[in-house]
Amino acid sequence: MEHVVTTPAWALIAYLISGVLFILALRGLSSPDTSRAGNRYGMAGMLIAVVTTLVSHELAGILEIAIAIAIGGAAGLIIARKIAMTDMPQLVAAFHSLVGLAAVLVALAAWLNPAAFGIADAVGQIFAVSRVELALGAAIGAITFSGSVIAFAKLNGNMSGAPIILPARHVINFGTLAAILILIALYVLAPAGGAGEGWMIPVIVLLSFIIGFLLIIPIGGADMPVVVSMLNSYSGWAAAAMGFTLSNSAMIITGALVGSSGAILSYIMCRAMNRSFISVIAGGFGQDAAATGGGPAIDRPYKTGSADDAAFLLKNAEKVIIVPGYGMAVAQAQHVLREMGDILEEQGVDVRYAIHPVAGRMPGHMNVLLAEANVDYEKVFELEDINSDFGQADVAFVIGANDVTNPAAKTDKTSPIYGMPILDVEKAATTLFIKRSMGGAGYAGVENELFFRDNTMMLLSDAKKMVEEIVKSL
Ligand code: TAP
Repeated sequence: MEHVVTTPAWALIAYLISGVLFILALRGLSSPDTSRAGNRYGMAGMLIAVVTTLVSHELAGILEIAIAIAIGGAAGLIIARKIAMTDMPQLVAAFHSLVGLAAVLVALAAWLNPAAFGIADAVGQIFAVSRVELALGAAIGAITFSGSVIAFAKLNGNMSGAPIILPARHVINFGTLAAILILIALYVLAPAGGAGEGWMIPVIVLLSFIIGFLLIIPIGGADMPVVVSMLNSYSGWAAAAMGFTLSNSAMIITGALVGSSGAILSYIMCRAMNRSFISVIAGGFGQDAAATGGGPAIDRPYKTGSADDAAFLLKNAEKVIIVPGYGMAVAQAQHVLREMGDILEEQGVDVRYAIHPVAGRMPGHMNVLLAEANVDYEKVFELEDINSDFGQADVAFVIGANDVTNPAAKTDKTSPIYGMPILDVEKAATTLFIKRSMGGAGYAGVENELFFRDNTMMLLSDAKKMVEEIVKSL
């Protein structure tokens, strides 16, 4: 049983070219130097794919499609211009939900009118292989949709980030997943035109919406970026499955690229946090901190300093290592931070930047912000390349980072971040810590022992304001 392939040869070549451009895009995005070129490859690939699809099909509703593209394009442009960098993870989650929903809608359309999609035989029965693709695309798409909606709500603060743990959730989840798989098998094997045709797909979609919701609610806020990347991967596989249904090779290639790159990214993030992928998916992280109220104890003695104190220490230092984190992104302090770094360098101080792989709220978050402020890439180092240098540094300048410097990750087996590799800022002669208050915890909601050490000076202020004052003082 063959698909009815109507794509002309030139279109297949154009799709292949766009696939190559997508691969070049991914390659380009792997380094700050080449990321702009990578983005351009991606845009060119997408343009070729969309134009090829429009031109190679006899489209009845070209006007409607043009209107839809105009509306979608305008919405995308406005959102992209308005979105704050710190809200990027929830935006990505929101966009993934649309990819999932689109896969479900395409699957339902193909199911309702298989002849129009070329996936039915002469008497209108859907081919077995197409049933597999259609059912899988619908199921993965529905899981992606509801899972992404929950991820969005958690990240955007519409819903508490704390894990919601249902009793017997593993039994419920496995039961629902098993039911979906059994229904897909029954649908594929069902006799053509039999009783199952009418209800199985809607039930598969419904159960998949439910399991997407159930899978994400027990996952704590700190694991959400991993979940977003995992849902990104799912949306890719859903698109690839629908690419088979639509006999569209560009969609198959793109879906597989998104699916595999999202999976690899999830794996890299888990490794950077020293968590297993399974433990992230199983959820419950951050439950204890939430249950006990989390947050740091604030009644212990600690040292605070002013911008003048910080400026004095910085200009008398030989080596300074700057550790940016989520707070720098919130305060948008990267530009003035670069200015501070430049002034110190003019005064002969060796200034470098240390980036933890999960600093901020998404992979590469800090790299992007520092690049935006034109910090020289050569001064920016990954954890493994700079961690042994903190011992020789006079000042570790921590700006809005917290969890990624917390030594409890090395020593406290009960800490939710135990085992995560951290930046050894405490080994520097002095650690300067910019954050707004002693009360504000990091993402994992745990206390940071470093604030109370003898060689730590807390600079309690908004990051941008504090660095501006330091620059003035310098
Ligand atoms: P966090 O541990 O989240 O700490 C951020 C700190 O910034 C807080 O201590 C906060 O304290 C401070 N802050 C917030 N706004 C500020 C402002 N305007 N000015 C100055 N300080 C401000 O950040 P991190 O060290 O970057 O760690 C990232 C966390 O996210 C880790 O737990 C990591 O596991 C998690 N995570 C990240 C990723 C990726 S891919 N990046 C993926 C999964 C999980 P105040 O409120 O007192 O100011």
